Amino acid sequence: MNSTNQNIKPSTARTNAKGNLEIGGCDAVELAETYGTPLYVIDESTLRSMCRDFKKAFKDYPHVNMMYASKALCTSAIAKIVDSEGFGFDTVSGGEIYTCYKSGIDMEKVLFNGNNKGYEELKLALDLGVGRFSVDNFFEMSLLNEIAKSENKIADILLRITPGIECHTHEYIQTGHLDSKFGFDLTQIDEAVELIQNEYHNLNLHGLHAHIGSQICETQVFVDEIDILIEEIARLDKKFNIKMGEINIGGGLAVKYTEQDVPPSVFDIAQIIVTSLEKSVKKYNVELPVLFLEPGRSVISTSGVTLYTVGSSKQVPNGKKYVAVDGGMADNPRPSLYEAEYVAEVANKKETTDTEIITLAGKYCESGDILIKDIKLPKLDEGDIICVYNTGAYNYSMASNYNRREKPCMVLVNSSQSDIIIKRETLDDLISKDVIPDKLKG
Ligand code: LLP
Repeated sequence: MNSTNQNIKPSTARTNAKGNLEIGGCDAVELAETYGTPLYVIDESTLRSMCRDFKKAFKDYPHVNMMYASKALCTSAIAKIVDSEGFGFDTVSGGEIYTCYKSGIDMEKVLFNGNNKGYEELKLALDLGVGRFSVDNFFEMSLLNEIAKSENKIADILLRITPGIECHTHEYIQTGHLDSKFGFDLTQIDEAVELIQNEYHNLNLHGLHAHIGSQICETQVFVDEIDILIEEIARLDKKFNIKMGEINIGGGLAVKYTEQDVPPSVFDIAQIIVTSLEKSVKKYNVELPVLFLEPGRSVISTSGVTLYTVGSSKQVPNGKKYVAVDGGMADNPRPSLYEAEYVAEVANKKETTDTEIITLAGKYCESGDILIKDIKLPKLDEGDIICVYNTGAYNYSMASNYNRREKPCMVLVNSSQSDIIIKRETLDDLISKDVIPDKLKG
């Protein structure tokens, strides 16, 4: 069965009677007019259908905790939607934890990840009642135990391990290989468990966690990861008589940015995960664990698009034609960071057949600020509205104010209605944190 992450476009994307692109029943050209561009648009029904695909895919496994990796896109409205679909949250900062808290999320359903959690963040997480800490290293173990002890609390933890699995994704988004900044090396786990048993009495160890990378299209890596996690659970039980009933296998399921990407369906992945869990528990003779999953990109990416307005263009004599839009690397740093590829269309020229090959450039002061190289689009004019697909994940969440630009607005569309979920920044927002010391005042 297909799942939503296997589509490039939101499921409601279509051409309307005016010949314009429509998403969530809203005309994209009208959205651009109403809210301005660049504009992030999230299609609620695509987001909900991906959440439901995950739930459906794992429905036969007895205990699953879906934890949306909020680093992909963390806003209060998105937290509300994902929560209402029965997901918990994987968070990695005080900011993400606070967003969950302020959005009314049951904090027991929040998990705190990260390789260098600060004192203030750990304290905030403990005080707000975060359900699980995925402890990454010895320093954090000691710090968390100290804070928990001083507050007379017990922190419920998993240990993050580096399983030594290489997956074929961009080097910057691989995390499960041995030379990684994340987690305990397999040779360090015994010492960590000993410390928990003998010294860190304010930590309660429930299980193991690993995350092997992001935008993963292969499936065997998940099988290998599960086998290592279960083997370790069995080995540690034998050695330390410690019962760990939980494993967290992280996120990583890919999405389809371009026709070349062939991400697996969440239904296929679920079957592979459940089958390998059943096999591994038999092999190592342990109980079927509670399973945590942390999908981020696959949950949110397909539901998001970004609208831009075409401005200047430049034909290099005997060379490329550049067409520039009013956004770029500050609202979507992925092409310049990872050479990420995207598909785009012209929202107001859906039916035009007169095309040309151009390079879609951003407006930031760097030659590397290119959104899409050599894309075939209808001949563009100033004022045309470009829609870049699959920008729901790691776009707004990695956006910057480079060149002192205001971050764009984000709207949620559904059933022909559009609602702002993040306001566009203003020029005054940009200078609101500036301070001029008295000595510089005239
Ligand atoms: N769990 C952990 C511990 C993670 O580190 C991550 C992502 C996830 C879950 C979610 O992975 P996902 O399902 O989204 O693949 N900025 C990069 C992606 C970095 C991913 C970092 N960790 C990008 O734009 O491609």
